[in-house]
Amino acid sequence: MRLTRLFLITLLLFVTFLFGKTITVGTSADFPPFEYIENGQFVGFDMDLMREIAKLAGFELKFVDMSFDSLIPALRAGQVDVVAAAMTITDERKQVVDFSTPYWTADQSIIVKADSDLTITVLHQKGRIGVQTGTTGDLWCTDNLVGKGLLLEKNLKRYDTFVLALSDLLNGNIDAIVLDSPVANRFAAIKPVKVVGIIVTGEQYGIAVKKGNKELLDKINSAIKVLNETGKMAELIDKYF
Ligand code: ARG
Repeated sequence: MRLTRLFLITLLLFVTFLFGKTITVGTSADFPPFEYIENGQFVGFDMDLMREIAKLAGFELKFVDMSFDSLIPALRAGQVDVVAAAMTITDERKQVVDFSTPYWTADQSIIVKADSDLTITVLHQKGRIGVQTGTTGDLWCTDNLVGKGLLLEKNLKRYDTFVLALSDLLNGNIDAIVLDSPVANRFAAIKPVKVVGIIVTGEQYGIAVKKGNKELLDKINSAIKVLNETGKMAELIDKYF
């Protein structure tokens, strides 16, 4: 009896090994409610979205956390198969990776400490502005503030993670952070920070795969379609927003 069970378990493992593919998902788990760590687990909208996609497409998942600006290099180097990180679909990124159909639309927001008198003009007042390296917030500030001489390059502080940027904001080492609006709203709800302005960018998030990995991209896109049609997507939105 015990032997049969052992045999069955071994067989199952063998079959999973043969047919079940494990997909490695790269993320930057500092971005609630899209991706963050809670009790040692990867949680958030993107993480659940990937879990639902994996169920439909029949693969296993392994999540890997890294700094946002390492994600595309890791994808290109084949260290991860997928990037799920609230990543905006941009023309520059589209040159080097392929994106799924968009699943979210966002703008950029400016947050300051909750008890601060600063307003959106902080961006033009020699403020020290924090961004996450390589994000669209970073690119926006680089092009529209530093590039136009409104902000000194040395006052644009780039961070590996928003955890570090937030602690510098709360410690008074920087005056404001520019980041995606849904995440700014979440931080404003759970941390002593507030939103003082919105920069309308209308950017869209996509799941990224290595350029040319059509097989995986097709699976992801058909799964997204099913999730939209079955109301599962709406359920996930309800859960996190
Ligand atoms: N949407 C922005 C971008 O693509 C920010 C994404 C940051 N994501 C993260 N998981 N920290 O540049």
